[in-house]
Amino acid sequence: MQDTLTLTRPDDWHLHLRDGAALAAVLPFTARQFARAIVMPNLRPPVTTAVQAQAYRERILAALPADADFEPLMTLYLTDNTLPREIGAARAAGVVAVKLYPAGATTNSDAGVTDIRKTYATLEAMQREGLLLLVHGEVTDGEIDVFDREAVFIERVMQPLRRDFPELKVVFEHITTQEAAQYVAASDRFTAATLTPQHLLYNRNALFTGGLRPHYYCLPVLKREQHRQALLRAVASGSPKFFLGTDSAPHAAVLKEASVCGAGCFSAPAALELYAEAFEAIGALDKLEAFASHHGPDFYGLPRNSGRVTLQRAPWQVPETLPFGDALIKPLRGGDTLNWKLL
Ligand code: DOR
Ligand code: ZN
Repeated sequence: MQDTLTLTRPDDWHLHLRDGAALAAVLPFTARQFARAIVMPNLRPPVTTAVQAQAYRERILAALPADADFEPLMTLYLTDNTLPREIGAARAAGVVAVKLYPAGATTNSDAGVTDIRKTYATLEAMQREGLLLLVHGEVTDGEIDVFDREAVFIERVMQPLRRDFPELKVVFEHITTQEAAQYVAASDRFTAATLTPQHLLYNRNALFTGGLRPHYYCLPVLKREQHRQALLRAVASGSPKFFLGTDSAPHAAVLKEASVCGAGCFSAPAALELYAEAFEAIGALDKLEAFASHHGPDFYGLPRNSGRVTLQRAPWQVPETLPFGDALIKPLRGGDTLNWKLL
């Protein structure tokens, strides 16, 4: 049995860091595990301009522990009114991608896109300037069952988008279904996908085991086992179209354990360990390095990291709660013992 696993330093290609005290509380976990992260722009108010993205990057850098070696990669939040000229400014400011939230799809998405066609001039500018489009791939149509929203999004949005902007690089974020895995696997080199630890480790039963489990609630919601199996096959294939994006999304425990629970799993404290568990369970530990450390930078056109990290088979307990500003936060798998530990 393999007891250590040394990898090129990995990156997290989908992360929520929030702001202020929450940012200060969660950032050290990611900076310890990852060299870079794509930072989501769904703050209140959202990060919609290059100037705001630059200021947010400065706040992240200021919140880093003194010994950290971590680079935040910034994104803009796409709205119906994002001007094409903002794309040039964003590129000049070092922004690498723009996030599409269909309006109302998830946390802080109210200012999102109501109709993708309203953004076509901006998408045109992104295709030209080489900024990536990161997609929350769910329709918001109340007629569509919540478990079907990702599959319907492929037909209604992804297919026309790919046809109309064939050379725009698109990341289908946090895919959760067989339909999305197959769609991405069959698409050309301009389309890729990120996968979260929770969607690789759990099916929707996790939400209801012995009662309602708010800490397993995220969006897109966990799906049936057949879908989880399809996601595992996608990562086990070793295809460069699939890479690591935790979607670690911190919410205070009091807000998760409330009558209305916000969507998001806070996986940052044990992210790499959770992926190692998922890959080991399917006998694919040999595919973890490329998934975590190669495919992401290759797709984004960025250099791979040069450092190394080591995971060791050494049981440790994930803390049940952690400080989160004035509140507490419960990490995914808090209180459980994990078998892999990042040294
Ligand atoms: O579970 C989620 N949480 N999904 C999202 O799309 C947003 C995120 C958040 O910001 O909390
Ligand atoms: Zn997210």
